[in-house]
Amino acid sequence: MLELVGVTSRYGPVTALHDVDLVAEAGRITAVLGANGAGKTTLLRTISGLHRADKGTIRFDGRDITRLSTDAMTRAGMSHVPEGRGVITELTVRENLRLGQLGRSRSGTAMSIDDVVDLFPVLGDRSAALAHTLSGGERQMLVIGRALLATPRMLLLDEPSLGLAPRIVTQIFGIVRQLVESQGLTVLLVEQNARSALSIADVGVVLNLGRVVAQDSAAVLSADEGLRHAYLGY
Ligand SMILES: Nc1ncnc2c1ncn2[C@@H]1O[C@H](COP(=O)(O)OP(=O)(O)O)[C@@H](O)[C@H]1O
Ligand SMILES: [Mg+2]
Repeated sequence: MLELVGVTSRYGPVTALHDVDLVAEAGRITAVLGANGAGKTTLLRTISGLHRADKGTIRFDGRDITRLSTDAMTRAGMSHVPEGRGVITELTVRENLRLGQLGRSRSGTAMSIDDVVDLFPVLGDRSAALAHTLSGGERQMLVIGRALLATPRMLLLDEPSLGLAPRIVTQIFGIVRQLVESQGLTVLLVEQNARSALSIADVGVVLNLGRVVAQDSAAVLSADEGLRHAYLGY
């Protein structure tokens, strides 16, 4: 569904991605793993059009999207959940969710706010609460829920587990897995938390200093002790 060929992204003199080749198959979770500074966020920003690739080609469903704007990407069915859980803190949970319905794609998961509340019941319980009163886990659920309301076919998730208790991470990752199974959603999940990410991913891609150093099934990567110690931190 998504293919990167030879993608290089720079910030002035800093090359954050070097010649990255990557494939994310439809209906699968592809985890992109790597330490802080590996280039994970740059990868997602380059895919979703927030940052321009300096070299290479990005295809979504066979279409060259390398130079597409973020709005056009959303309409094409790609929804990016940036790191940092950006919610509009002065609005209620429900109002934040409604924002997700703006600029929907033409095809995709066609979810309603009620469907999102079924997935994340706490968002229903706290529907009238101002978003600034939410816990970190609730905020993460809200940003994922909001992204789903844009009816994506593909979801880009940037470190959803950061700073959350293991129990909450398990819960959120379980729901992401369930979405993939039930809706056929395609997910590119960027994580430093390699162990948790590999537990729900089908495929893993390991980034180190902006280069892909391994790309294989999640089972093969998890079983590779040398790789785990060298790059995955466990
Ligand atoms: N806006 C920026 N300006 C300059 N350098 C940046 C910027 N954003 C990221 N970088 C650099 O690009 C590299 C990759 O960063 P990033 O994509 O944020 O990695 P990760 O998400 O894996 O932690 C790092 O060396 C980082 O310092
Ligand atoms: Mg990052």
